[in-house]
Amino acid sequence: MNEKRLVGEKAVEYVKNGMVVGLGTGSTVYYTIKKLGELVRAGMNIKGIPTSEQTAALAREEGITLTDFNEVESIDIAIDGADEVDADLNLIKGGGGALLREKIIANAASTFIVVADSSKNSVKLGTFPLPVEIVQFGFQMTTRKIIGLGCKPKLRLKDGTPVITDNGNYILDCEFKSIESPAVLEQKLNMIPGVVENGLFVNLAARVISINDGMVSERIR
Ligand code: A5P
Repeated sequence: MNEKRLVGEKAVEYVKNGMVVGLGTGSTVYYTIKKLGELVRAGMNIKGIPTSEQTAALAREEGITLTDFNEVESIDIAIDGADEVDADLNLIKGGGGALLREKIIANAASTFIVVADSSKNSVKLGTFPLPVEIVQFGFQMTTRKIIGLGCKPKLRLKDGTPVITDNGNYILDCEFKSIESPAVLEQKLNMIPGVVENGLFVNLAARVISINDGMVSERIR
């Protein structure tokens, strides 16, 4: 069973004709975007706002019209994946490096829906290293300050060189083991000069579509 496909395609049921749709990033929402492409080709009229260059390219391939914040003031629905989902529907995101645009879009959406296979469920966040986007200037200092919050950060590398986000920044993957208060940590991280955004999504998800006992299951907040 392809769990990612099941949950990704299920989310499309919440997209209605005429909506502005925030399009997430990753291998789960990939299936949402493919399905939306089918619906668009069958006559559905939506506008997408992509959370990454990668998603923008996929949406264009699928024939989905893209828009941006110059043209629209609000987003009806955003659909995105997650790296970890806790019992209160708080999330860790950013495994794909798109956390900043993902958070801007999730915040701007009237409804934010998360699609996550069963491996993403956890009682308390912290199993997945928390991605934190930081500016390149002074990143050594920013890293030291983040260590002060009680984690082990690793600069994200690809082929031995730092990964650069769509916004021109670095990513630190921070091992916290267990995050006692996601809301407090989210604030503390964002208070550190040099931190652009972190991958804690607190009180944002309205609905999480996942798999339970082999069946699609939905939790709402
Ligand atoms: C992208 O930056 C991430 O936030 C993704 O949404 C998250 O990593 C989930 O990705 P998958 O659906 O590929 O597991």
